[in-house]
Amino acid sequence: MFKKAIVRTPGRSMVSGLTRANLGTPDYQKALEQHRLYILALETCGLEVLVLDADEAYPDSTFIEDTSLLTPHCAIITCPGAPSRAGETAGMRPLLGRFYAMIEEIKKPGTLEGGDVMQVGQHFYIGLSERTNLAGAEQLIAILERYGMTGSTVPVKGFLHLKTGVTCVAEKALLAAGAFISRPEFSEFMILAVATGEERAANCIRINDRILMPAGFPKVRELLTAEGAQIIEVDISEYAKLDGGLTCLSLRF
Ligand code: GLY
Repeated sequence: MFKKAIVRTPGRSMVSGLTRANLGTPDYQKALEQHRLYILALETCGLEVLVLDADEAYPDSTFIEDTSLLTPHCAIITCPGAPSRAGETAGMRPLLGRFYAMIEEIKKPGTLEGGDVMQVGQHFYIGLSERTNLAGAEQLIAILERYGMTGSTVPVKGFLHLKTGVTCVAEKALLAAGAFISRPEFSEFMILAVATGEERAANCIRINDRILMPAGFPKVRELLTAEGAQIIEVDISEYAKLDGGLTCLSLRF
């Protein structure tokens, strides 16, 4: 069960955030309103939400998931692979120290972003992407093993992060798009295959007994509903313009 979440308010500088989406420039006022409704959705799932102030120095800092990995046994501060995001982790140690006794850190030459890590119980799938390298993944696996958890790697192609294309929506079920539909690493799972054209909906968040999904993807909604999921739709159109998904906008623990 998750009890808390941490989010960061987007700054006006978000309009200069990294993107390859080709969906236009985010509307800042609309992004703020969508962020408010995102927080409300987290609260509806029973989470207490800590809202951090905007950090204008880092246009992508609202995507706070990439800065840390919060496990049941320790917090791990990441080492973002995007040079413009490297400084986003600076304030994380004192912040996470309010909630965690044990705090670990990924160090260079390792790089790792939280969007590349998918937790399924005590196991963590780590995407090897343009942002997360093998050295970062190996450091993470070593840390996880020290705390009785495990990790393994999955290649990421055609998506920004691992969780851009695959998320865990039930104990043994993954919502998967593109190449993730048939990856051998996921052969033990029931795969809910995202239809072509709705790939952005692969990034959902399972929180306690609910699933948050991005608004505007009827086929994925139907897929999840057929599995009995209790769905909350959240419009994140302004964040999608920066390649951001629902998971990217919070740390949940
Ligand atoms: N705009 C989110 C990222 O590229 O990290």
